[in-house]
Amino acid sequence: MDSVRCLTPADLPRLRNFWIEQWGGELMYMHGDVVRYDEVEGFVYGDWAGLITFQMRGDECEITSLDSLQEGNGIGTKLIDEVLRAARAKKCRRVTLVTTNDNLRALGFYQKRGFRLAALHCGAVDDSRKHKPSIPLTGQNNIPLHDEIELEILI
Ligand SMILES: CC(C)(COP(=O)(O)OP(=O)(O)OC[C@H]1O[C@@H](n2cnc3c(N)ncnc32)[C@H](O)[C@@H]1OP(=O)(O)O)[C@@H](O)C(=O)NCCC(=O)NCCS
Repeated sequence: MDSVRCLTPADLPRLRNFWIEQWGGELMYMHGDVVRYDEVEGFVYGDWAGLITFQMRGDECEITSLDSLQEGNGIGTKLIDEVLRAARAKKCRRVTLVTTNDNLRALGFYQKRGFRLAALHCGAVDDSRKHKPSIPLTGQNNIPLHDEIELEILI
């Protein structure tokens, strides 16, 4: 059975390639911050059928990426659960993440798993695109891609 394991330093080259393939670069831009692939912790599902990355700062944990390459099989849920467990173990108060205004699937997915809408960053994706031109103008569901929606879960 496929299982979940922690990212290790040996995973960095593959993590870099994974982010480039899934997110168009080795850097993530979110709410004005830059996150490098070698600055995150994470969990891998199976042979990279799923990946979640996060950063812990003080009593906050921010999920920096989540990808399931075999959707609808529980992989995304399992990876979220692992991060919540890790955050509780580190005595974090809340776990946050941002998704984009086009990502209707992710918005449903997170809310069904207890996350609440916490903030709207209007134009944040447009700002990120200035640094990362690979961010498309039109996102999923043919929706113009402009804004970040921040979600949180208190733990
Ligand atoms: C969001 C995502 C991580 C979910 O991963 P997953 O492995 O499919 O998740 P699970 O199998 O655990 O759960 C499936 C849930 O996701 C949604 N979902 C997943 N695939 C779906 C599909 N093909 N069509 C519609 N809904 C879908 C459903 O709401 C379902 O929820 P439910 O079981 O409560 O009805 C995955 O769709 C993904 O990788 N998307 C692309 C990357 C992305 O947008 N990441 C989030 C960025 S913030």
